[in-house]
Amino acid sequence: MKNFDHEKLLDLAYEAREHAYTPYSHYKVGAALLTKSGKIYQGCNIENAGYTPTNCAERTAFFKAVYDGEREFEAIAVCATGASPSYPCGVCRQVMAEFCDKDFVIITGNNDRSIVVDSNLAEMLPYSFGPKDLL
Ligand code: THU
Repeated sequence: MKNFDHEKLLDLAYEAREHAYTPYSHYKVGAALLTKSGKIYQGCNIENAGYTPTNCAERTAFFKAVYDGEREFEAIAVCATGASPSYPCGVCRQVMAEFCDKDFVIITGNNDRSIVVDSNLAEMLPYSFGPKDLL
């Protein structure tokens, strides 16, 4: 695994989970995204009465970072309120594929942090479509 503080990134994901706006699912997700420059952006899921506009925690973190000019990312930690680790949804994986290399680290944790799984983008989104395909 790459050289960064995994526990700190997870700490910040669990902290971000407290910010979730989830009046419909009550399933709270937190994310902490580490840039290659060493900054960390936190995100939470933000639900909507129209359901479709709901934004996942991972994308909240990515969009905050991209707005700030960040384009290169090292890792993300994600946690939710379920018994199993919360893996990023397909849409979030596609957003990761826009900005991240195959070795982008994805750490997922379950409700009480008793299960933590380390993976990467290559495993989560094989045969992906991305910027290279439009060249
Ligand atoms: N959710 C995330 O925040 N990230 C994911 O990768 C999967 C799903 C949120 C969206 C919604 O608010 C709730 O979890 C239930 O789907």
